[in-house]
Amino acid sequence: MMTPKTIQTLRKLMEYEAARTEPPKSFPVLPDIPAGRYVDARFFELEKAHIWRKSWLLAAHIDEIPEPGCFMRWENAGQPVVIVHAESGEVNAFYNTCSHRGAPVVTKQQGRARRLTCRYHGWTYDHEGELKGIRDPEDFRGLDMSCRGLKTVRCERYGNLIFVNFDAEAPTLLEWLGPIADEWEEFQFGKCRLASRDIFDLNCNWKIAMEANTEVYHVRTIHANTVSPVLDDRRNVNTLYANGHGRMIAPNRKGKSNLGAVDISLDIAQTDTVGEIARTCTQSYGIFPNWVSPLNQFLIPPLLFWPNGINKCRLETWTMAPPWEEGKKPDLWTKNDGKELCDVLIEDMEFGEKIQQSMESYGFDGVPLSYQEARIYHWNQAADRMIGIDKIPEELRVQQVIGDEWIYPNDPRIAELD
Ligand code: FES
Ligand SMILES: [Fe+2]
Repeated sequence: MMTPKTIQTLRKLMEYEAARTEPPKSFPVLPDIPAGRYVDARFFELEKAHIWRKSWLLAAHIDEIPEPGCFMRWENAGQPVVIVHAESGEVNAFYNTCSHRGAPVVTKQQGRARRLTCRYHGWTYDHEGELKGIRDPEDFRGLDMSCRGLKTVRCERYGNLIFVNFDAEAPTLLEWLGPIADEWEEFQFGKCRLASRDIFDLNCNWKIAMEANTEVYHVRTIHANTVSPVLDDRRNVNTLYANGHGRMIAPNRKGKSNLGAVDISLDIAQTDTVGEIARTCTQSYGIFPNWVSPLNQFLIPPLLFWPNGINKCRLETWTMAPPWEEGKKPDLWTKNDGKELCDVLIEDMEFGEKIQQSMESYGFDGVPLSYQEARIYHWNQAADRMIGIDKIPEELRVQQVIGDEWIYPNDPRIAELD
């Protein structure tokens, strides 16, 4: 929970941001982000080998596999994965790859079974991934069944959310989230239900789509009639966290609710523990690498961005909420029950394809970012560190100019307040 002192500091920072006439004194000049990061196959491969392989990725909600024995396939990160709610109550993830000849062990998108049985030759695994039975075992000489289980994918929960990680060496999910795990307590992730989850294909690099949701600089132009009347963008306060995560908090304009920009009824359940800031501001987190989400007393609605080639991506829209009444299922991001994006997201995505074309053209070299867009630069710095700066061709790197003095809990603006 935010302490009264934290709230007071945030309020002061909002006024500081509204009053300043230039970036804070110690904020660095941001060198251009090379356009190649959005169009160059080398960078795309580096992202695959490092970012998608080593980050914690939101894969599922417990409501999708509510009972022991329930399983679901998950392939959004390009790897074949099956997530299983085990008899033990734990949630496990495995490569959906039979250790015999590689057929998928699970072919249905979702289901429930006491054992997972490969349909090719009938090898059978339990919920812990152990190989329990094979046909005609006498015809395999020296096959040690105990070493032929399904290969494990790291899987950890934050409340009802299920994350996976393909890196055995990665920190735990809680270490990865750092202070954000505590800041999120007021939103009660252990109580939120999954109301909707949809996916949309977009014709641009995944970062172009994500970055449209990582700054408020675009609000007054792109969202002139939707978000702008509600959100006071000049009072936005960005916070940068370790591991590339970020947060924005922008107060609502007087008398406006933080659902004011979208077409959703206020007559829905609320999470009582949500504090003053999240009730009166647009508070939104960027969790590295691909999660952007506002959170408030009504909803936890993450947007996730997944690459689908260099110049294509998929936008996944989730709405989570406290339990709702029959017939009042909240869905923040879509119209027509998941068939179309809502107006605000259509606005956000309007230029994606054209920006991709620009970045692929001879006429575009790099992206100059303002102080308001600092979270995008911070993300890129963290991405390069995760990849390993030396592995990145020089012309595709970003310079590491935002120093630790800007990483939470450090904040040079606080010294400038009084
Ligand atoms: S590939 Fe699965 S049993 Fe042969
Ligand atoms: Fe937007």
